[in-house]
Amino acid sequence: MFRDKLKKYRPYQPIELPDRTWPGNTITKAPTWCSVDLRDGNQALIQPMNLEEKLELFQMLVDVGFKEIEVGFPSASQTEYDFTRLLVERGIIPDDVVIQALTQSREHLIKKTFESFQGAKNAVVHLYNSTSTLQREVVFHMSRQEIIDLGVRGAKLIAEEAAKTETEIRYEYSPESFTGTELDFALEICEAVLDEWDPSPSKPVIINLPATVEMSTPNVYADQIEWFIRNMKNRDCALISLHAHNDRGSAVAATELALMAGADRVEGTLFGNGERTGNVDIVTLALNMFTQGVDPGLDFSDINRVIDVYESCTRLPVHPRHPYAGELVYTAFSGSHQDAINKGMASCEKEKDEEKVWAVPYLPIDPEDVGRTYESIIRINSQSGKGGIAYIMDREFGFKLPKEMHPEFGAIIQQVLDEQGGELMSDAVYHTFEKEYLITEPCYKLKRFNVVKRHIDEKEDLSTAEVETVIAVHGKEETLQAAGNGPLDAFCEALRQGLGLTFTLQAYHEHALTKGSSSKAVSYIMITDSDEKEFWGAGVDTDIIVASIKALLSAMNRACSARQNG
Ligand code: KIV
Ligand code: ZN
Repeated sequence: MFRDKLKKYRPYQPIELPDRTWPGNTITKAPTWCSVDLRDGNQALIQPMNLEEKLELFQMLVDVGFKEIEVGFPSASQTEYDFTRLLVERGIIPDDVVIQALTQSREHLIKKTFESFQGAKNAVVHLYNSTSTLQREVVFHMSRQEIIDLGVRGAKLIAEEAAKTETEIRYEYSPESFTGTELDFALEICEAVLDEWDPSPSKPVIINLPATVEMSTPNVYADQIEWFIRNMKNRDCALISLHAHNDRGSAVAATELALMAGADRVEGTLFGNGERTGNVDIVTLALNMFTQGVDPGLDFSDINRVIDVYESCTRLPVHPRHPYAGELVYTAFSGSHQDAINKGMASCEKEKDEEKVWAVPYLPIDPEDVGRTYESIIRINSQSGKGGIAYIMDREFGFKLPKEMHPEFGAIIQQVLDEQGGELMSDAVYHTFEKEYLITEPCYKLKRFNVVKRHIDEKEDLSTAEVETVIAVHGKEETLQAAGNGPLDAFCEALRQGLGLTFTLQAYHEHALTKGSSSKAVSYIMITDSDEKEFWGAGVDTDIIVASIKALLSAMNRACSARQNG
């Protein structure tokens, strides 16, 4: 059945361009960006934006850095007309921003478009008519010449209106459905329109070549653009503009390849909103450039604000996996990814200076560059590993767990996840750590601790100490005294001699706590009990010696609990 359906379709015919040059090019500078969010994007919404929403989105587009903004189709809708008037009358358009409006090639629509611009400093009149083979045949029943005449008539009327207005007018022409049009015909009509507008290198006309419907692989669009540029008469009098829709899901790729083929300008929308599968996504295009070290000329350093305004104005969500912007795109759940990110971030931080090149596995961009915090990078579920858990403890709570401690704490978290399922939020990771290591004292509780004597012999490199301590053992207080090589060693001796405990101190780590209470320190201690079983403990205190005593008792308590629970 499926095979039968295939007979309905024909492959798109690629163009003959064996000496194409674009594959050898790279994108080294940003194009001129034109946002069509308020026209093409708006036109595709279930509920088009009202004046307030259009205004809010316009302001945000200006803040991001767009210098060309298609504000609507003023001759086609009263709201769009009113919006254009509102922008002009309230003096909202910055001097370095040009508004653009779309019109068909009909006298009353062109006149209405100019009327909507009255009082504006600068504006682009965007004329379009469909040129595609299919539409000529099945929609308009018009010959090639008739289609050219239609475009030229519109161009002439626009030039006449432009001569009458005070507004500085720039011209744009789109052979709509360019990618469904024979290339030679697309060129013929564009040149006929260009002749009407008498462009010059100092006053070039925008020739916008839309993939109104994306019909082929992106390389074919690039071939078409290279062919067009190579064959046009007055290349220096035109700005070649791209306008890709995303029917095959490759609008970003098509636009990038077409830029490599020599285009100057890109029309698109934020997050790819637009007819059907949308227009090309300018956020992705711009940030793709940014991650190649090319200044995109647009500022997405506060991507969350852009998302908020976009979502509230369009009533469309940004997909959680949307490149650079989605809620989950800086998040790793998988243990091996978390581990690699953790190591990459640590290596980047070690050499933090302006010259440092970003190189973190699985993260093509530093989330901070788009205003995302590191907190969301690693999230914990049953797929996560010990590295991710250690990352959360470090990044969010300032506990740099010793590497040898990761497996033990990782297994504790895994057990919690097995019991509760789903995701464990970072606060819950910390509370598990706190409960496991810092606050439970089922067997031994420190009541008092005193260093009674301390002797340091620098010459002999020798340190001795005598301590006195009171420990509640299952609630019964015991006063202990002992000496050793330093306070911790003396405390260990006190436990061994006074309580008859058998253990060996195997590892000791400490560091200052930089998050929360910065005057505190944390100690981590690993002991082995008489059965050679390993137990980690941790202790926090303003005094590093007390922190180490607490860490030892934490390990002893965990060993005692394990014995009690069999
Ligand atoms: O997709 C398209 O062809 C258009 C034109 C009006 C430029 O939006
Ligand atoms: Zn479009």
